[in-house]
Amino acid sequence: MVGVLLLALGVFLGWRFLRPMNIFVVDDRFAWPITSEQVPPVLGGLSAPECGACHTRFLAEWRTSMHSQAWTDPYFQADWQFEGSEPSCRLCHTPLDRQQPRKVLGYRDTDKWDPILADNPDFDSALQHEGVSCAACHYREGKILGVLGTTDAPHPVQRLEDPNQVCVRCHVVEGDRWDTFFRFPPCGTVAEIRATSTRPGPDPMAGGGGRDGPGSGEILASDVRGLHCVSCHMPLVERPLVEGGPVRTTRRHLWRGGHDPQMVKSALSVAFEEVSRAPDRSRLFQLTISNTGAAHYVPTGTPDRHLTVRFRVRDARGMVLQEQDHTLVRSVMWRPFIVDLRDTRLPRGQPRRFQLEVPGEGAAASVEVEIRYHLLAESRRRRIGYANTTPIDYPVFRQRVLLGPGSADRPVPSRPGPG
Ligand code: HEC
Ligand code: HEC
Ligand code: HEC
Ligand code: HEC
Ligand code: HEC
Repeated sequence: MVGVLLLALGVFLGWRFLRPMNIFVVDDRFAWPITSEQVPPVLGGLSAPECGACHTRFLAEWRTSMHSQAWTDPYFQADWQFEGSEPSCRLCHTPLDRQQPRKVLGYRDTDKWDPILADNPDFDSALQHEGVSCAACHYREGKILGVLGTTDAPHPVQRLEDPNQVCVRCHVVEGDRWDTFFRFPPCGTVAEIRATSTRPGPDPMAGGGGRDGPGSGEILASDVRGLHCVSCHMPLVERPLVEGGPVRTTRRHLWRGGHDPQMVKSALSVAFEEVSRAPDRSRLFQLTISNTGAAHYVPTGTPDRHLTVRFRVRDARGMVLQEQDHTLVRSVMWRPFIVDLRDTRLPRGQPRRFQLEVPGEGAAASVEVEIRYHLLAESRRRRIGYANTTPIDYPVFRQRVLLGPGSADRPVPSRPGPG
């Protein structure tokens, strides 16, 4: 009996190792491409340049954003192909029906990873290359969604209650299954905000609003307001919507994130200082890093993103005498079950401290610290065969303190050390 059970367990685990689990559940919110029938003639083929013929500045900003590269991005392409070119990835990276070479007719499995597909005569490959295009956020059932409720547009407009509703389609991924043990779902940006917000926020998934029709199954919860995505990612700017139109309060269409060093720097407050000096002249340095600029964890999004912290103590000739390295990352075990192992990223407003002791006697001449942001690890880059032409990591903080006789006699910041 025991033998049979052990054998069954062995077979099960073996199968799980060979055939790893899908990292998320395709839920109704994004399981169906956005339908684009009944497009009013003024909107043409729904392409960004067509919208941009009137909304010039919005087009120019969007072009610089990662949304416009959600399909062409070479990192996405390498990752997607490495993971077996799953059709489900298209549901967020190219969410419009006519961006998909094949139509989704239904699903064969409950996780919705096995779609029933049919050729799509409306497929538009130029539109596919636009990734998360204007229409992905703005077009629904013949109308353009917007918060202003303007009556001056040549196209039908439908009033959107809260701009943050738009983000929830793609920036929430659930992982809820009996055999999955996530603290946060993969790409847990929204869950992270809720976990660390000071007031218990409304649940965007529970919804206060309905769903927007049978086609797309999106959540139009009216209380996603507390997420404030657009406050930080789409700053306000006064300008006309179209050249020569009235000036209105609008939002920038830039969506800066992990690809922008300035944006990542704006999330962090960092201090590196000497905190104490012992009678034997050994010195204690402390680095404090806080996430003061982002409502979610830093980094957020795909678990590939991480921060590294490096300390180096060098002698006068620059030789490394002492080193200390840390990684701030979310580690997930993928097989045989999905389990959140460790999360050393930075929740909002919870400072992280690292200490480094430099012995008094010896040749130490300087101590330096560097914090770097990584879009993905070098090992992963090689594994998926992503030949990057832009750096996959960059510094967000650097400081060097000289320990020479001159500086050694400088007054030490006055926090007393132990003893
Ligand atoms: C022929 C010109 C033209 C085209 C093409 C056009 N728009 Fe507009 N749009 C306008 C004008 C004019 C307004 C109203 C401006 C105002 O009220 O200040 C407007 C308003 C809007 C608004 C604001 C709605 C609100 O009430 O909040 C959005 C959003 C918008 N357009 C998006 C788009 C998108 C996306 C496309 C392409 C699918 C597009 N537009 C194509 C001219 C155009
Ligand atoms: C249709 C799906 C979709 C919607 C809707 C959407 N996003 Fe995204 N977003 C993506 C995808 C896909 C990427 C990744 C693109 C890439 O790097 O290849 C992304 C990337 C980002 C990034 C990271 C940029 C970087 O530098 O890596 C930010 C920030 C962002 N989105 C904010 C928002 C906000 C705010 C909203 C709501 C106004 C929103 N997104 C709505 C799909 C979407
Ligand atoms: C990732 C989602 C997303 C994409 C892609 C996107 N927009 Fe928007 N857009 C929004 C949101 C959210 C608002 C509402 C901002 C607010 O609260 O005023 C908005 C507002 C607007 C407005 C009204 C002015 C304003 O800021 O409220 C215009 C016009 C507009 N977008 C045009 C475009 C055009 C043209 C494109 C493509 C080149 C585009 N948008 C792409 C999310 C998006
Ligand atoms: C208080 C400001 C703030 C709010 C609110 C906020 N963000 Fe961010 N976000 C940031 C900052 C700063 C960064 C850059 C640091 C980082 O990458 O974590 C960032 C980074 C990101 C990234 C980049 C991750 C990557 O993979 O490169 C995404 C995606 C993102 N935010 C999405 C969202 C979404 C979606 C919401 C709403 C649910 C939101 N943010 C709310 C400030 C904010
Ligand atoms: C529910 C929507 C959704 C689905 C489905 C989805 N993605 Fe994404 N993807 C995003 C969003 C949003 C981002 C940007 C924020 C982040 O880093 O999480 C992103 C970012 C990425 C990035 C990082 C891009 C960069 O430039 O750094 C890669 C790679 C990626 N996705 C691959 C995939 C693959 C492969 C699949 C299918 C297995 C997939 N995605 C399915 C929403 C989605």
